[in-house]
Amino acid sequence: MASAAIFIADPKQSQERLQHENVALRDGIDSTSICDEIVGSSAALQKVLSLVSKVAPTDASVLITGETGTGKELVARAIHRRSHRSSGAFVSVNCAAIPPDLIASELFGHEKGSFTGALQRRLGRFELAEGGTIFLDEVGELPLETQIALLRVLQEHEFERVGGTRSIRTNVRVVAATNRNLQAAIAAGTFRSDLFYRLNVFPIDMPPLRERREDIPVLVEYFVDHCARKVGKNIQGITKESLDLLRSYPWPGNIRELQNVIERSVIMCETENFSVDKTWLARQPLATEPKIPLDLSEKLAAQEKEMIEAALQESGGRVFGPSGAATKLGIARSTLESKIRSLKISKNSFKDFAETIPRRSCLESVQ
Ligand SMILES: Nc1ncnc2c1ncn2[C@@H]1O[C@H](COP(=O)(O)OP(=O)(O)OP(=O)(O)O)[C@@H](O)[C@H]1O
Ligand SMILES: [Mg+2]
Repeated sequence: MASAAIFIADPKQSQERLQHENVALRDGIDSTSICDEIVGSSAALQKVLSLVSKVAPTDASVLITGETGTGKELVARAIHRRSHRSSGAFVSVNCAAIPPDLIASELFGHEKGSFTGALQRRLGRFELAEGGTIFLDEVGELPLETQIALLRVLQEHEFERVGGTRSIRTNVRVVAATNRNLQAAIAAGTFRSDLFYRLNVFPIDMPPLRERREDIPVLVEYFVDHCARKVGKNIQGITKESLDLLRSYPWPGNIRELQNVIERSVIMCETENFSVDKTWLARQPLATEPKIPLDLSEKLAAQEKEMIEAALQESGGRVFGPSGAATKLGIARSTLESKIRSLKISKNSFKDFAETIPRRSCLESVQ
């Protein structure tokens, strides 16, 4: 817990108000950390924490989605810690960090001589996680053939080591995460829909920090305290200007970015009042720039979807006719309709209400 209380160093504010805010921030931390590290009291985070409590005791697969740095791994660990598997291992695998030709051996192990360089038998991460939980981070990066093997684990609870012939039974809970749109990957043919449904038994979507700004002050206090201890500094307060700046920034890198900015600021801090250098927050939001570049087919599918949605928006959801989206895009109605289906676009969401239902009838239906 915070050794140094954070106050707002604004000379205009009364001492009483400062004390009040100290208590509020401190209480925020005390009452909102369900386990050591998940800090925040926003309704959006509370909803996530309640899903965690519900799903943790079960053995259901969980798919955690959300932008980079929103706390997906933290939540995966919380699920493991609160499950009956907590005394077993929590094995984390970043599927994006392992070359595609090695991922099967990494997950399922290999037998001696199964490929050049396989000098001895090696256990995979599933065997290491036996009785515990495996966390498959960036699961959207798995090559298609590994997706089939993973599907078999989820359905039949067994797998074979690379180069092996014996089926190995497994008792491992799978929690997966991704910051990619798996629906778009399915539409582009790079992710199997049957695997998606198996993983997505219990979805948890992590809200970005900009949608839960009320968590920022309490996270700031938590990280300042943590970093100040680490570097042996005594930080007593934060300037009001800095707190306002931190509150208003869009945080494209979410909590990880906040944590890094604070760590850097604590290292640079030369007084007891913590402040943040504006120029460190000058980056533009990266929301449209995924961490892992999309491959060509996904990029094309995403661009196609964007163009179709823009045309539907303009046409108020009308597909055909002189002012319909097909005419605007210069393609046949049937082509557009099949693309709308394959890209899972909801054309109804573009329907222009005012155009389809006369204003008078809206009023009438309200009365
Ligand atoms: N609510 C929170 N309270 C405290 N620390 C948090 C919170 N959420 C995230 N963090 C911290 O922010 C950092 C990023 O979290 P995490 O690695 O879980 O994010 P992620 O969603 O898995 O990111 P990526 O998509 O980049 O893998 C970690 O250091 C984590 O401890
Ligand atoms: Mg992660």
